[in-house]
Amino acid sequence: MSEFVKVASLGELEEDTPKRVEVDGTPVSLVRTEGEVFAINDICSHANVSLSEGEVENCHIECWLHGSSFDLRTGKPDCLPATQPVPVYPVKIEGDDVLVSVTQES
Ligand code: FES
Repeated sequence: MSEFVKVASLGELEEDTPKRVEVDGTPVSLVRTEGEVFAINDICSHANVSLSEGEVENCHIECWLHGSSFDLRTGKPDCLPATQPVPVYPVKIEGDDVLVSVTQES
């Protein structure tokens, strides 16, 4: 069963500027872009670096270290060197609250 936890308010999230939060000890990058909010695990699948420090473009987040770009909807990388997806999580918006569930990957 998925358990949604409030992680931020909508007003805190700037368009295309990732925000790192922790949900039950899991680092998550919240990204508000193209009218939606996405939640993706904050650790690149290639090495242990924070995706929140990367750039957001076209519903993708780019790892700042070697440039792999991950689809925020699926977590899949578009280009090398990363070959493994990063987990993505379901997001719910309730009023101004942003809720994420890390108990179930979407
Ligand atoms: S650490 Fe992210 S692509 Fe290498």
